[in-house]
Amino acid sequence: MLRLAQRMSRAKPSAIMVIADKAKKLKAEGRDIVNFSIGVPNFLPGAHVYEAARKALDADTGQYGSNRGRDDLLDAFIAHLARAGLPGYQRENIAVGVGAKQVIYNLAEALLDEGDEIAFPTPYWTSYLDIAEIVGAKVKLLPCPSSQHYKLTPDQLDTAITPTTRVFLFNNPSNPTGMVYTREEIAALASVLVRKPDTWIITDDIYHRMVFDGLGYHNFVHSRPELRERTIFIDSLSKTYGMPGWRVGFMAGPVAVAKAVVTLNSNHITNIPEITTAAAVAAFSGPQDVTERQCADFALRRDRVVAALTAIPGVSCPRPQGAFYAFPDISSAFGRRHGSTRIDNDVDFCAALLDAKGVACVPGSAFGEPRALRISYTCPLPQLDAGLKRIAEFCGELT
Ligand SMILES: Cc1ncc(COP(=O)(O)O)c(C=O)c1O
Repeated sequence: MLRLAQRMSRAKPSAIMVIADKAKKLKAEGRDIVNFSIGVPNFLPGAHVYEAARKALDADTGQYGSNRGRDDLLDAFIAHLARAGLPGYQRENIAVGVGAKQVIYNLAEALLDEGDEIAFPTPYWTSYLDIAEIVGAKVKLLPCPSSQHYKLTPDQLDTAITPTTRVFLFNNPSNPTGMVYTREEIAALASVLVRKPDTWIITDDIYHRMVFDGLGYHNFVHSRPELRERTIFIDSLSKTYGMPGWRVGFMAGPVAVAKAVVTLNSNHITNIPEITTAAAVAAFSGPQDVTERQCADFALRRDRVVAALTAIPGVSCPRPQGAFYAFPDISSAFGRRHGSTRIDNDVDFCAALLDAKGVACVPGSAFGEPRALRISYTCPLPQLDAGLKRIAEFCGELT
């Protein structure tokens, strides 16, 4: 009998894409839609990036490239790591991929056998769960509700990580909550992790250039350098340089782990293209003003979003300090009605909001937190303000 592999019964299309597609469809039908659903930075990279890509096109060899990534790209990434306070990596510590998502997928294959445990805080980025399930890992979720500002505590981490926890996956700044850990919070978690020698640590820090309020970016390795031998740092061009469609991601970590990812690359993708490589080198090595300007702009938007959301009776929103997401708790709406539509959960809330007001948000359950929804606030300002106003109207109409 013809059948798909068992693992496909565990594979789901991304919940975020489902909402984004519905919003796109309604827009194509002529509805006035404000799309807060998809996590795109909504800016383009600097002119030097396009110039490098054009030059690479003129000099194209058309050949296969390195499974690890071209040397000049590895060097540019190593310099970028040093600027993030992580100096001393060599080319053999690095591997590239088709976006951070593919790097994380490779790491899941490289580090987790079927039934192995991976632990991560909840709310989590949707693909963590989806990828873990596809590779057949056992997932341990560490709940971090809004009452603890969506942040993991050292005691929680200490209890959760056992000698059988193969991987601890950590995301800072966070998608979906926008939370950023302070230096002290990172140090406290790192002190727990040094006592868990059997666990690999993956820090998905792809938003680390988008931190507000002078909080700075902190990594476990900054506070406990000895963790470097089992910590894998993830990065991406997508959000930092406004290049999500270019699909370039990275890992830096122990030589054996980078080698495993390179081996998987040799079987999956072979290499990332020459033109993309040249653009990526330019992004890391050229002027950083676009990223810096965008970060300042996102901080201002964050203020607008938090002010608008916290003015809505019953809605609370821990203040994001990075990335470009807000994750308000809207659970006070559960059990109420909008017109004739009953709202029992986050999915009902988001569906009714999209139908009634044309505002697309992602239900929090996509991130393991069904009391909330995610707003990605990178759209043009007039749309941002209109969308926030419509959410307030919608909440005001609940009976
Ligand atoms: C936390 C987090 N990690 C990884 C990714 C994947 O990024 P990339 O576009 O590099 O695949 C995303 C994308 O939304 C993300 O939010």
